[in-house]
Amino acid sequence: MSASPDYKEKIVDLFWFSGTGNAKRVSEWVSEVASQNGFEVIQQNLGSSERHIIPGIEPGSYIGFISPTHGFNYPPLMVKYIFRFPRNPGDCHVFLMNTRAGVMLNRWFLPGVSGIALLLAALVLWLKGYKIAGMRSIDLPSNWISLHPGLREKAILKIHHRCEKKTEDFAHKILKGKKVYRSLLDLPVDLILTPVALAYYFVGRFFIAKTFVATKSCDNCGLCHKNCPVNAIKLVNNRPFWTVKCESCMQCMNACPKRAIETAHGMVVGVITLTNTAVVTLLLGLLQRIGITLPGFITENGTIWFLVLSALYMAVIIFTHRVVHFLQRFKWFDIIIEYTSLTRLKLWNRYQPGKILRKNQF
Ligand SMILES: Cc1cc2nc3c(=O)[nH]c(=O)nc-3n(C[C@H](O)[C@H](O)[C@H](O)COP(=O)(O)O)c2cc1C
Ligand code: SF4
Ligand code: SF4
Repeated sequence: MSASPDYKEKIVDLFWFSGTGNAKRVSEWVSEVASQNGFEVIQQNLGSSERHIIPGIEPGSYIGFISPTHGFNYPPLMVKYIFRFPRNPGDCHVFLMNTRAGVMLNRWFLPGVSGIALLLAALVLWLKGYKIAGMRSIDLPSNWISLHPGLREKAILKIHHRCEKKTEDFAHKILKGKKVYRSLLDLPVDLILTPVALAYYFVGRFFIAKTFVATKSCDNCGLCHKNCPVNAIKLVNNRPFWTVKCESCMQCMNACPKRAIETAHGMVVGVITLTNTAVVTLLLGLLQRIGITLPGFITENGTIWFLVLSALYMAVIIFTHRVVHFLQRFKWFDIIIEYTSLTRLKLWNRYQPGKILRKNQF
């Protein structure tokens, strides 16, 4: 084993962001290992106002970034923070961790996919003069319950147990001065996903932010807007309204005590159908009528046409989301929105690992 670097002060700075607690838990596990190894640990939650503060970095310290993966990248909040991070004051080592969508099928653990999450962050920090000591993905249970029901208690406990060991092992190695680049094994797949990661970052996430609705079960307790890490929820006519600032971290939807927050799948299908048929056809027909033909480089170039369609989708979903929010004051409309949402189904568990882990004293 190589010796721990002999720093005057042994400091570990952990910068974490977490929607539903996975990355927070990883930060706590790393913190425990660091304390056991005699390091002073400073943890900073970037899902609070702390992210607006540019930190002072001690030369020679270890710096860890820990965050969920969103759309094959770190979430925008984390990316922006890393871009604003100060240059290396001298001999600082960085390690990067991302929590991903781990799933259990029968007895098999299936990993998530990082895409450019760690690669982009490593590149930016390396250009700022940091030494990249390690990168590690941790496959904690998937929290993306707009796509699938939350995992069952048994699977959540098993996955957590497995990930705790992996995290501790990684932290021990890094803090002993070793280099761990385990995540680079996924490099080919991660690089192929770069265009998807960019499309999510610049377009997709705004679309997803506009799929949340609060139904009539909402008693206006205020918890969701109070706890949103980026203040993305406004109260409009006594009902939460999701703005494009939302990072889709899933905290509000998983934590709502009334289970009143749904992903409006019916509305999404409506918007996609409407845009593909009526809006595109009408728009092209209208342009033709007034004698404007779109130049070939727009309709024939796949990328440009994708951008044009994305802009249309965005406009339609932003408009529809506003209209839906307005019409939800009518009971019959509220019921349609609620009953065309898959997340409303009883089997569609919310992901609340905190509760489960406390109950099982994990
Ligand atoms: C909008 C969204 C996008 C996601 N994209 C990915 C992804 O690209 N790859 C992946 O492995 N997991 C993805 N996930 C799953 C989360 O990264 C994963 O569940 C993570 O552990 C959640 O951490 P947290 O509890 O700290 O928020 C996504 C989740 C959400 C809500
Ligand atoms: S947390 Fe749930 S019940 Fe409370 S205001 Fe938000 S949507 Fe309504
Ligand atoms: S609105 Fe909900 S999902 Fe969006 S960032 Fe805030 S807490 Fe997360």
